Amino acid sequence: MQKLVTPYCSDFGKPNIVIKHFPDTESYVQIPNIKSFKNKKITIYHRLYPEPDKRIFELLLILSLVKKQTKNIELFTPYLPYAKQDKENKKGEAVSADILCKLLKSYGVKKLISYDCHFLPRAGSFKRSGLNIDNQSASKILYTYAEKYFGREKFLVISPDEGASYFTENAQGHTMKKKRKESQETGNHTEIYAHIDQVECDIDVKGKNLCILDDVISTGSTMMKTIEHLRKKGAKKIIVGATHGVFAGIDIKKRILKCGCSQIFITDSILSEHNKKIKTLKLPKQ
Ligand code: R5P
Repeated sequence: MQKLVTPYCSDFGKPNIVIKHFPDTESYVQIPNIKSFKNKKITIYHRLYPEPDKRIFELLLILSLVKKQTKNIELFTPYLPYAKQDKENKKGEAVSADILCKLLKSYGVKKLISYDCHFLPRAGSFKRSGLNIDNQSASKILYTYAEKYFGREKFLVISPDEGASYFTENAQGHTMKKKRKESQETGNHTEIYAHIDQVECDIDVKGKNLCILDDVISTGSTMMKTIEHLRKKGAKKIIVGATHGVFAGIDIKKRILKCGCSQIFITDSILSEHNKKIKTLKLPKQ
């Protein structure tokens, strides 16, 4: 297997794909040694977040070059964007998860390797819209950190909703019930978000240390509601971990901590400015 690495994945290898931007912000891609990849098995390492639209288009430029050389292309991207809209909730909604998978397949990707992909129920091999996906999980990495954090003290692992229940499986943890409202425009008429109604559970957490694990912290609402509910039920110390730190909004870290949480931890699946200020665990180098 040969690696093709973009500058956005330089922690996974020395970049051998050039990506630059024209003064008008459009992307430029060059693979200097493109001919040396003829008929080889290639894995492309590229992050698709932040700026997912731009990163996806750069990926298409890369794939347009690579697929002329080989049919054997895998893509490693630690966080898959556009995965949240995985069904048509309202009539006429575009299902972005399917569109992206179809697009990658049509551009020659034989297998996508990613972490805790939002629309998949657990780690393993899956197929969506014809695309083979190897979904890996950071749940063990997150759990190991929690074990270290609490040391000799006991703790319970909790996931805020069914979708993340596999995060708790190996730790005999618990899953809460989350109810969202229908997605609505937010204040400025161009944003859309499904507000969370409730996150609740029947677990006895009084006096117990808790570790809440989820696939992603985006607006932070899930974590905030979960912490608030568990605090009301008398939880002792609460820490929260997620594979992907999207942090879509202002002061999310501060607001989560303010709800009564002692520590937030994520992995380096997304590299961004605010993630630098949060405890970040390294994903294994593939
Ligand atoms: C939901 O289904 C996911 O597992 C996460 O709980 C959710 O996407 C987190 O989003 P937010 O931080 O905006 O509540």
